[in-house]
This record gives sequence, structure tokens and C-alpha cells, in this order.
Amino acid sequence: MSRLLLVSNRLPVTVKADKDGVSVVRSAGGLATGLRGPHERSGGVWIGWPGDVSRLTPEQRAAVEARLAELRCVPLHLSASEVSRFYEGYSNRVLWPLCHYLIDRVPNQDRDWDVYRRVNERFADLVVRHYQPGDTIWVHDYQLMLVPAFLRARLPQARIGFFHHIPFPSSEIFRTLPHRTELVRGLLGADLIGFHTLTYVRHFASTLMRLLGLETVVDRVSYEGREVRLGGFPMGIDAQSFENLANDPGVLEDVRQHREKSAGQQLVLGVDRLDYTKGIPRRLLAVQRLLEREPAWRNRLRFVQVAVPSRTAVADYATYREKVDELVGRINGLYGSVHNVPVHYLYRSFNEKQLAALYRAADVMLVTPIRDGMNLVAKEFCAARPDEDGVLVLSEFAGAADELADALMVNPYDVDGMADMLEAALEMPEEERRSRMRTLRARVKEYDVHWWVRSFLDVLESVPTPPPRTQPAGAEAALTRMREARNLLLLIDYDGTLVPFAPKPELATPDAELLDLLRRLAIRSGTRVHIVSGRTRETLEAWLGGLPVGLHAEHGLWSRPAAEQPWTVLEGVPTDWKSLVRPVLESFVARVPGAFLEEKSASLAWHYRQVDRVFGARQARELRLHLGEVFAHGPLEVLPGDMVVEVRARGVNKGRVVERVIDGMAPGTLVVAIGDDRTDEDLFAALPVGSLAIHAGGKDTRASYRVGGPSEVRTLLSALLVG
Ligand code: UDP
Ligand code: G6P
Repeated sequence: MSRLLLVSNRLPVTVKADKDGVSVVRSAGGLATGLRGPHERSGGVWIGWPGDVSRLTPEQRAAVEARLAELRCVPLHLSASEVSRFYEGYSNRVLWPLCHYLIDRVPNQDRDWDVYRRVNERFADLVVRHYQPGDTIWVHDYQLMLVPAFLRARLPQARIGFFHHIPFPSSEIFRTLPHRTELVRGLLGADLIGFHTLTYVRHFASTLMRLLGLETVVDRVSYEGREVRLGGFPMGIDAQSFENLANDPGVLEDVRQHREKSAGQQLVLGVDRLDYTKGIPRRLLAVQRLLEREPAWRNRLRFVQVAVPSRTAVADYATYREKVDELVGRINGLYGSVHNVPVHYLYRSFNEKQLAALYRAADVMLVTPIRDGMNLVAKEFCAARPDEDGVLVLSEFAGAADELADALMVNPYDVDGMADMLEAALEMPEEERRSRMRTLRARVKEYDVHWWVRSFLDVLESVPTPPPRTQPAGAEAALTRMREARNLLLLIDYDGTLVPFAPKPELATPDAELLDLLRRLAIRSGTRVHIVSGRTRETLEAWLGGLPVGLHAEHGLWSRPAAEQPWTVLEGVPTDWKSLVRPVLESFVARVPGAFLEEKSASLAWHYRQVDRVFGARQARELRLHLGEVFAHGPLEVLPGDMVVEVRARGVNKGRVVERVIDGMAPGTLVVAIGDDRTDEDLFAALPVGSLAIHAGGKDTRASYRVGGPSEVRTLLSALLVG
């Protein structure tokens, strides 16, 4: 096993200071428990925030540091302003509600992004400081979405995993975030991105498609020359330990007391952080509804709601608390008696033993979040029932619902429906309770937290480490070689290389600055310039015909090697297939709004740049399949381009230009080709040995040099003209 570097916002410890000194105790949460073994065995470190230690004396702080070091925890201290802007601000006021579909709670102004970004960078810096070659890095949760990309930039060879512990919402929700693209690119720095459910994986994949035009094939997506895997790994709990606790004599004594207190009553339980995603008000309303319409239940039901204080500095949480307090008061006021109140509301946290006792004592457990990434409480309840009794009522909007089909499922927005289900749970015959609980427990015990850790790390560790491949060198290195050459032959693509893509091809005209740049390059001493494009002769002639440069149209089918020379065509290229293919493309134009057909002398192109991204990509795939099947043996090639499917005669490609232009080249000439898409790779492949290929963009490429895009290409070419 390689060394594990774990990274999460909170360290899996709690620092407590009182008059007797300070203590650092391990937290009990699922993540901490599941990862304790691998963390200890692998000899790695866990990096995260130890909580606020600003009020400790220097001696206490030193004691905390020493204890953390013993536990191999590396603290990252957050300043008060970072806590308020990174943790409370961006993480919990923006990302948390948004990922739980609560867009209305996201503040109007996006003020904390910069601090979120900076703290993510600080986390990455600390990881880099502790990284050793061969380590596996595992980053956790929405507070740290940018960390994988920061790490990838600094540690291109590292094996990086990311797990998103909360829901990943539909792309329609996610794309409302002003910084959506940075966040998604942040995650794509990882080799493996894990989610609790396949629904979240699907939402993430469609977000990649809509925001970046990236297509996920099965469980992988190609990004910046790497393969990123996506996967569903439902998190489990330490089921064995909950079961052991539930059988502990002390716990059994507590169970007995709980039952005694609810003698003659059924005990209904809710256990949540006091968070507006947990659906506590509607759950209370459902209890109220049942008491209202079935008076017989009024003295026979005792509802214990544990609400753990959480994120109290965030205003929405304070308001939520008031709302819950008020509802509890109202229900108890309405349905309580001198001897009994229906709702027992406990605003505090409990330890695992106390929880196990409550779980085991309960007749019905209500887990009804309006949205929850997984919900471990539901699983803990099952694990704590070795007596195979108790009924779980579970929201269909909790990730756990995908696995726990034997729970009674509810829609937490349907208060009446929940009241019905609560009643059904209270009245469920013992045989059915046992049969459901048996199935639930089998699932929870088999797919526990250890299974979760193993399955994620197995996939992560099976990802081949990127070969120590030489990353394409950047503009500086290319410029040095070009400056050193006595003569230069430049073969430059047009769209996406010299000019950015426009919504319609006819709008991507050359601007005055570009025309001037090309003219000055063409008259630079020892330099010849050729534009190698997929466009028609007519367009190139109209846009660039006045320049002293060579023009090559339709991927090299037509060439005009120098100004004033006539256009010549490649010999023997058939065009009789066009009448067969045209109707097919026309039918795809008719059924895909925004698509259009472009006809060139030896090719037909179906463009979909203005089509809805998901629909467009799907139709493009279908078109390619159809063309491949129908014309498999014809003299045709089908080329997927940048938002275009082009059909053309076989044997015509940009590489064919090379043979035409190097003829008679002066000795000592450096051939330089610059391009951005698949069709330019043909050009790169045909270059003579020792040439220089430059890819403009972030795609996979055989080129040894890479620049960012059209503006960087222009900067590079302009630099040739000075010095
Ligand atoms: N928990 C706890 N003390 C409490 C209430 C809850 O330690 O008083 C634990 C509970 O055992 C569970 C976790 O908090 O492991 C809550 O996890 P869950 O996935 O249900 O919800 P989250 O709080 O992560 O949204
Ligand atoms: C959820 C999040 C965790 C977070 C926990 C407690 O489970 O997914 O990342 O640690 O809630 O929230 P807190 O803000 O107290 O860390």
C-alpha cells in the first residue's frame, strides 16, 4: 500500500481546552473511523483544520501540536477571517445550499470566492510540502473542490482522488454558480472523483458536457491529455462497532430506561445536525398531522428529536433553529398534557454510546431530509438493531435511499404522506418489521465503511500513474528555437488557432491586427507563411488573399502556394458521393435546431456549435454511427471536428500540404506547424524530422509544444518580429 495523504477541511479530531488543560481526541464520525486503519497502516499524514485554537495559551497550543503530531495529523490553521469567508461564507453559504438544491439561500453577492480559492491553495501548498513520490492523495468534500487542480499543476505525476460527500446537483442548478467552471476544473485535477450515488455521477457528467463540452465515456473523461475517472461509491458506516455498542451492557441498561420512560407509548426518533437540509420542520408537521387527525395516538406517541448544534454563526442556521423551536412549542402546546408532551427536543450532541441506546430503544426512526448526500444516521440505526426490530422511515431524497429499499420511503415535501407512513410504521406487524430490518442490516453490514474505503482506493490505486511524460513545452521554448533558425516555414491553421471560434463560421473574419501580423511575418527575413485551413478557397481568398502568404483550403484539397499563383486541386479526389450523403446531413439539420450544413468542393460539414450541448453531442454521435454504417466501404472519411462532423473524400488531409510546400525549401529551414484540433494532428504527423509542432489549446496532442489558444499564438508570433 502506498503512503496515504488525507486532506479534509476538518481534521478527524476534536481539540478541547478546559481548566485541567487541553485534550485532543479522535472524532467518532464515519470518515474518521473508516480511514483510521489505512491512515495508520500507510504511515501517511492527515491534513486539515483542527478548529479554532486562537484562545489557547502558547503552552496549550504547543501541547496540541505535539499531540497532533503523534496522531500524524498536520494542522492547517484558519484565521478568523478565513473561518468567516472560506468556511462559513463560500463553503456553507454558497456551496452547501446550492448542492442541496436550495438556490434561494445562496447570497445575492458572490463575495467570498477569492478567500475560498486562497484557502484551497493553502491546503494544496501544505499537501505539496508533505508529498513524497509514490504517495496517494485523497481529498475530501466540497470545501476543497479546487485542491485537486492546484495539486495537479504542482505534482503532475501524483495519484489524486477526490470524494464529494454531499449531493452533486443537476447541471441546471450547478451552472447557476458564477464560478462553476473553475470549480469543475478544480475537481478534474483528480484521477478519480467519487460520489455517493450514480445519480450524482450522472449530474456531474452532464455538467462537464454542458460547461466544458467534455464527453464522459462509460466512467471516464479525457481532460488535458489525462483520463479522469468518475465513480459511485456509497459510503458506509462502521457497522460492527455500532452493533457491538448496541449489545454493550451499559447501553442495554440505557435502552431499558428509555423504554421504561415511554411505557405504553411508542418511541419515535429523529437524529440530525440542526441543518435546514434535514427536513425537521416538515417532519414535526407530519407528527402534528397524525396527532391532529388520529386522537388515539395523542398519549401513545413520544417523539424524541436530537438536534446537534451546527454552523451557528451562519444566519440561516439561527433562523432555522428559531423555526424548529417554535414548531416544537406549538405541537407540545396543542397536544401535551400535564403528564406528557409529544415532542422531546434535545438541542445538543450525543456520543456514540448514547446514540446507540436511543437507536436501539426506538420503535420508529424518522430520517426525512429534504436532500442529503448519503445520511449515515439511517445506516447507524440499522446497525444498532441486532434485535432485528424497529422501522426505518427514509426520505427518497437521501443518498441512502438508493441502497435501503426496505425502508418505508417518503417524499419529505408531502407532509400528509409522511403522516400516513408514520402511522403505517407504528402499526407495522412484527413479522414485516423483522423481515425488512434483516434485509436492511445485511446491506449495511456488508457495505460498511471499510468496504467503501477499500473500493475507492482500489480504483484509485489501479489508475496507471501518468508516465513521466514530458509535458509539451510552452511558448518560451518554442520561441527560442524559432529565433535560432536561419529560415522559417510557418504552417498555421486559421480557426481556433489565429482567431477564436465564432457562433457562425462566417463571423470569424480576420481583424486588422491579425492581418498586420501575418503581413509582417511574411516579409520577415527568411520566413514563409502558409495558412492551412478547412475553409473554402473562396473564403480564404476573400479574407487573406491580399497577403503575401500561401493558402491551403479544404484541408489541403486546394492550394495556392504563393500570392498571384493559381489554385490547384489534389488529383483524383472523387465527389460523386456527395449526392448520397447530402440528404442524410440535411435530415440531421431538419431535426436538430441550430445545426446547419456547409458544402465545400470535396466535403460536406454538419455544424452544431449553436445546438444545446448535450443534444448536439448525442446527435453528432448518432450521425457518425449512421454514416459509418451506411458508407463504410465508400471512398469517404467521417471526421469529428470541433462541434462539426465533416464527411470528405478519403486521402485528403492537412498532412498533404507538407509535400507541396517543402519542395525547394532552403537548407536550414525550420518547419513550424501550429494548430488546435484533430485535423491539425495530420499536419503534425506529416512534418519532416526536426520540425516543431505547436498545439494551441488543452486537447490531447502529438505536438511537443503547447500554447493556450489564439491570443497566445498571436503573442508568440508577434514576439518573432521583435528581437
Ligand atoms: N452524530 C453524533 N452525535 C449526535 C448526532 C449525530 O456523533 O448527537 C453523528 C452520527 O452518528 C453520524 C453523523 O453525526 O455519524 C451524522 O452523519 P450524517 O451522514 O447522518 O449527516 P451529516 O451531519 O454528515 O450531514
Ligand atoms: C457534512 C459534510 C462534512 C462536514 C459535516 C459537518 O457531513 O459533508 O464535510 O464536516 O457535514 O459539518 P461541519 O461544518 O461542522 O464540518
